[in-house]
Amino acid sequence: MSKNALIIGASRGLGLGLVQRLREDGWNITATVRNLNTADALHAVPGVRIEKLDMDDAGQLAALGDALKGQVYDLLFVNAGVKGPNDQSVDKVSPEDIGALFYTNAVAPIRLARHFSGQVSSQGGVIAFMSSVLGSVTMPDAPELALYKASKAALNSMTNTFLGTLGDTSLTVLSLHPGWVKTDMGGEGADLDVETSTRGLIDQVNAHAGKGGHHFVNYRGETIPW
Ligand SMILES: NC(=O)c1ccc[n+]([C@@H]2O[C@H](COP(=O)([O-])OP(=O)(O)OC[C@H]3O[C@@H](n4cnc5c(N)ncnc54)[C@H](OP(=O)(O)O)[C@@H]3O)[C@@H](O)[C@H]2O)c1
Repeated sequence: MSKNALIIGASRGLGLGLVQRLREDGWNITATVRNLNTADALHAVPGVRIEKLDMDDAGQLAALGDALKGQVYDLLFVNAGVKGPNDQSVDKVSPEDIGALFYTNAVAPIRLARHFSGQVSSQGGVIAFMSSVLGSVTMPDAPELALYKASKAALNSMTNTFLGTLGDTSLTVLSLHPGWVKTDMGGEGADLDVETSTRGLIDQVNAHAGKGGHHFVNYRGETIPW
């Protein structure tokens, strides 16, 4: 029987790639975008149910919850995220920009996961968050992205707490690093294409389904230190 996935943030980049790969594998997909009018590449993937969601908007989240009531998913993948301000030195950035970055990258994904966790299958269900190796606090890389890095570390911490609130659960929770990927965020000089990264990410979802617990791994299945 086909599996069901809910993919958050699928207009372009890695989210779009996840939808394409999962469709190749025969999954049923519901995918969300912020703007239904600028998601041509997603509309071009056959057989995808597309819903509108700005993850930061609590009203839109409630409306999505109403629209998807009764649906059960084998995979909830919270991919959406932002890089934040161009200049990430703490003496340049505004409180508003820092707030927006942490809200989108660390708070909104967890609020969304809390909203839908009851609709993720207790038979091998997976909740995956798009983290980054930069979220590892043991690796002092990329000082020019210090705030983005901190926002992904915060996401990892919030994810760990979130799993604790689920109590005795058979769900598997993944914090995934996609590699450095050629997208609008990753830039042209990145190491990987979207297809290679997203194929690897889906492999990790399949490999970890049914294991339970919280795992921080990259698209090749290598464990990343917290
Ligand atoms: N590319 C990399 O090398 C890399 C490495 C590590 C981690 N990541 C992570 O991977 C994820 C996807 O990145 P990407 O490279 O594909 O970036 P991207 O090309 O910039 O795409 C970002 C996606 O997130 C969506 N989004 C942003 N804010 C949103 C919000 N408030 N509500 C709903 N959707 C929102 C965007 O929608 P719109 O089209 O509406 O803007 C877009 O679909 C991010 O979480 C990123 O931090 C990327």
